[in-house]
Amino acid sequence: MTRKSVVAGNWKMNLTLKEGVDLSTNLCQMLSKKPLKSIKKDMEVILFTPFIHLPEVVKIVKGVENVFAGAQNCYSKPSGAYTGEVSASMIRSTEATHVLIGHSERRSLFSEKDEFLAEKVSTALDNDLKVVFCCGENLNERENGNHFEVVNKQIYNGLFWLDEEQFHNIIIAYEPVWAIGTGKTASPEQAQEMHKYIRGLIEKKYGENVSDNISILYGGSCNSKNAEELFENNDVDGGLIGGASLKPAEFFKIIQSF
Ligand code: 13P
Repeated sequence: MTRKSVVAGNWKMNLTLKEGVDLSTNLCQMLSKKPLKSIKKDMEVILFTPFIHLPEVVKIVKGVENVFAGAQNCYSKPSGAYTGEVSASMIRSTEATHVLIGHSERRSLFSEKDEFLAEKVSTALDNDLKVVFCCGENLNERENGNHFEVVNKQIYNGLFWLDEEQFHNIIIAYEPVWAIGTGKTASPEQAQEMHKYIRGLIEKKYGENVSDNISILYGGSCNSKNAEELFENNDVDGGLIGGASLKPAEFFKIIQSF
């Protein structure tokens, strides 16, 4: 196994169905002219769409090598009387392959706690979905120097109960909350420092073989201007892109930043 480079787009609660179909179609057209493997070996692109868009986007990305579709969330229970929720098996039934768990907007706006997120990770893996697990400190925590401790706890509680085989289906996204949607990006040094710390935690828990192979993405105001200086760091394996993933040409530039 080799460590994959990944550029993922998180559309959040944006785009009508038609706009989402148009965006994915445009992007896939660009990628059929310039395939991912011509940009970088072992590179993947994942589009995290709203649930509504998912079956259509799955069809669009299907013919394009190493481009995948995923959901931005799933519920922790397999099925039942949970009005308004969407299960991991429903997501998998669309042939989507990935799910985002623990995004800071879920943690802060919907009060999702570590234990609940761990349940979501479990049901996602049970249903053969790969998980992009988000972690990151807020501004207060960074200014008080608690950022390593916060990220350690999120990863420990959310993921470190998994066995080694399960852990192979995890990608980590480090997204400092103070950098999300603010236009304020972590410096390449800050990103590298935290990514190295996260890889070190994984090495201690699962060994070097696992820590060497896990992809750790940076998220937070990443765009075509700063992607290259972020991605060139040893422990930064790509990005989780919010706002800049909503414009196909801009997102395509980020993909080409390796
Ligand atoms: P922005 O790129 O808009 O800052 O969002 C980052 C993010 O939250 C991706 O999940």
